[in-house]
Amino acid sequence: MSTIAVYPGSFDPITLGHIDIAARAARLFSELHIVVVHNPSKQPRFSSEERVELIRASIAELGIGANTKIVVDTLDSGLLVDYCRMVGATALVKGFRTTMDLDYELPMAQVNRDLASVESVFIPADPIHGHISSSLVKQVADLNGDVLKYVPQVVARALASSSANRKAKN
Ligand code: PNS
Repeated sequence: MSTIAVYPGSFDPITLGHIDIAARAARLFSELHIVVVHNPSKQPRFSSEERVELIRASIAELGIGANTKIVVDTLDSGLLVDYCRMVGATALVKGFRTTMDLDYELPMAQVNRDLASVESVFIPADPIHGHISSSLVKQVADLNGDVLKYVPQVVARALASSSANRKAKN
């Protein structure tokens, strides 16, 4: 049976924590769409296109999802459940690090089920990634810290050049 799932997020940028969730989700579903969603409450560092490219390059670098079709896509407007309907996905994948993450996610999971019977599958973060977030990684990179423990090499390079550009502008 074909089981299609969508793993949505801002991915600004993708971290090793996200990659771990995607790799584990890829073992549960026959097709996984990693979708860069426009979040109006956030001011992204990287454009949607850059984030998609970084996700594709990270997957190539780390070689995840060998037996699963992985699609990387964007959703700039509209409901996530409409994207799910469009691609035939019956599940949304969400990683969670803490119960605070779950408190934030639970109402969204309930609304998505109400709207389109799309179920949410919550995957607990591996404790080695439990403290990683895209915003902390950006902060560490901007302050010249080493982010290679937290992100794929291709993302570390993109962060270094974005931090240098920001400093040159200020
Ligand atoms: O990585 P983020 O920023 O925490 O991801 C949040 C995201 C993109 C998953 C969330 O904002 C979302 O689900 N947006 C989709 C918009 C939508 O369909 N909203 C209505 C039902 S919750």
